[in-house]
Amino acid sequence: MKIIARGAEATIYDNKDIVIKYRKRKGYRLKEIDETLRYSRTQREFNALKRCHDAGVRVPIPMRISDDGDRLYMEKINAAQLDYRFSPLVMSGVGDIVAMMHKAGVIHGDLTTANMLMNGKKITLIDFGLGYFSKKDEDRATDIAMLKSALKSRHVKVFKQAYQLFIRHYKKRIGKEFKGIETHLRDIERRRRYYENG
Ligand SMILES: Nc1ncnc2c1ncn2[C@@H]1O[C@H](COP(=O)(O)OP(=O)(O)O)[C@@H](O)[C@H]1O
Ligand SMILES: [Mg+2]
Repeated sequence: MKIIARGAEATIYDNKDIVIKYRKRKGYRLKEIDETLRYSRTQREFNALKRCHDAGVRVPIPMRISDDGDRLYMEKINAAQLDYRFSPLVMSGVGDIVAMMHKAGVIHGDLTTANMLMNGKKITLIDFGLGYFSKKDEDRATDIAMLKSALKSRHVKVFKQAYQLFIRHYKKRIGKEFKGIETHLRDIERRRRYYENG
């Protein structure tokens, strides 16, 4: 088995075109808390991936969770991390897929360009360990605000164009629900400015 990535939370293995995401034990956490966190994130990720896949949103197809609850088996996606070969133009496709995910009732919870894979024009969303089910404007706005600040910090030179393209496509696809989401986005930003300048 080959290791493809080693993050703070998980190690990602490639086993003959199946990807295994293993959330390793963290010694500094109390054992019970550590297990609850690792199992619940694995389960949340599986559930969110399944809901997305069933709704036709491009994500790795989830296969199963190991009996001990800390390994997720899923389809391997042959694509590069979006932030490594970023161009603001890809954000139109990101706007479309994030809107589709929200329409399917899924909130990602950690929406950054590091959690998107790209192959040609095809975008795939990954890393749903903080994902949950909701169709609330407020929760959708939280996802968008997180993506916006990720764009600002990682792709500062093209941030404006990238975000505009994202919003234009997101708005078009999410439809009339955009109005409520936009209101919450403004609230989030007002609060953020207040704390940053306060
Ligand atoms: N299904 C997959 N197919 C191919 N590569 C993957 C897949 N899942 C994860 N990866 C690779 O592993 C990296 C880390 O995965 P991710 O789910 O984001 O874990 P973490 O929680 O550690 O950030 C990704 O950026 C990607 O490069
Ligand atoms: Mg990640």
